[in-house]
Amino acid sequence: MIKQYLLSPGPTPIPNEVALAMSETMIHHRTPQFNKVFEEARQGLKTLFGTNGDVLILASSGTGAMEAAVANLFSPGDKVLVINGGKFGERWLNIANAFGLDPVEVKVEWGKAVKVDVVEKQLNLHPDIQSVMIQASETSTTVLHPVKEIAKLTKNGPLFLVDGVTAVGVLPVPLDEWGIDALVTGSQKALMLPPGLGFIALSERAWQKTKKAKLPRFYFDLNLERKNQAKGSGAFTPAVSLIFGLRASLDMMAREGFDRVYARHARMARATRAAATAMGLKLLAPDSPSPAATGIFLPKGLDADKVLDYLRDQMGVILAEGQDQLRGKAIRIAHVGYMGAFDVITAIAALEMALRKFGAEIPFGRGVAAAQEVLMEALN
Ligand SMILES: Cc1ncc(COP(=O)(O)O)c(C=O)c1O
Repeated sequence: MIKQYLLSPGPTPIPNEVALAMSETMIHHRTPQFNKVFEEARQGLKTLFGTNGDVLILASSGTGAMEAAVANLFSPGDKVLVINGGKFGERWLNIANAFGLDPVEVKVEWGKAVKVDVVEKQLNLHPDIQSVMIQASETSTTVLHPVKEIAKLTKNGPLFLVDGVTAVGVLPVPLDEWGIDALVTGSQKALMLPPGLGFIALSERAWQKTKKAKLPRFYFDLNLERKNQAKGSGAFTPAVSLIFGLRASLDMMAREGFDRVYARHARMARATRAAATAMGLKLLAPDSPSPAATGIFLPKGLDADKVLDYLRDQMGVILAEGQDQLRGKAIRIAHVGYMGAFDVITAIAALEMALRKFGAEIPFGRGVAAAQEVLMEALN
């Protein structure tokens, strides 16, 4: 037997409390019993999203919530500005193209955050832009984009759509306070749930825009969902068991305290970066790193895919690969959701051992010690 350690940026580990909640006996979704669970989850989501408005629960992965944002907010041919600094920026672009929008792309070098003045320049150049679309945390490059600053540019202007899939529940992304118009996430990251739920919250002016938007929509009709979800269920059959789990995971986060949840993620990320640096490895996103996952270049000449296979098959440690142009060169260590200090230690210790196996001359314990120094901060 090889014990498994799931340290990927989604799906992420599930706490027992959440797993047990999801094993509750099935109930009907149009009953007062379900309405109560649903309403409690809705309230928890409002705190998480930093909004007094509605957060809608969809039966989809995160991409479904992204698609719902586009389908409900735009009309064919609408010009939108897409910040594309990785696989998920590319996803906004693909959705925009699939729905017949007219996207203007801001290409960002992988590993870098978009510069606020570049966005400002594009907005000045194209006064007819209806929306700016971005990732808060671009999981593929482990970059954090300056969402709060860009929100200042879009206030009273184009709608600001933020993919918060590896940001909501990892760091504060308060929709109302920052002036975000659409914020989406999925269940399998910070929310400590299996894949299968998408979430979306809109600002009041975005709700107004849905009334004029002409793109076709049926399953993801947010006005229909809003009306039904206010009454404690979905327009269609909701993912009942996942919603039991959602209520439990939101309760766990509230008990820990959202500030402490964010501090834990920030600390795990700092410890991982300190470890990589102490091992002499280069970070993929040194200037603006995400607190959800850390991208690390492996020493030249090593095949990162082989190292990851070895970690998974021989050690049971599941990390993530670099995508596209980073394939074979970089790895990503996630620290998102139900993870703590010793998940970081496990990942780093295992990486040190795997790198030794593949011939890298990095003394054992360098990375672990650097991570321990950071992680000690949280201990009395
Ligand atoms: C930033 C970001 N956006 C979107 C997605 C897509 O979400 P899903 O795979 O749940 O559809 C992911 C998934 O990893 C992500 O990390």
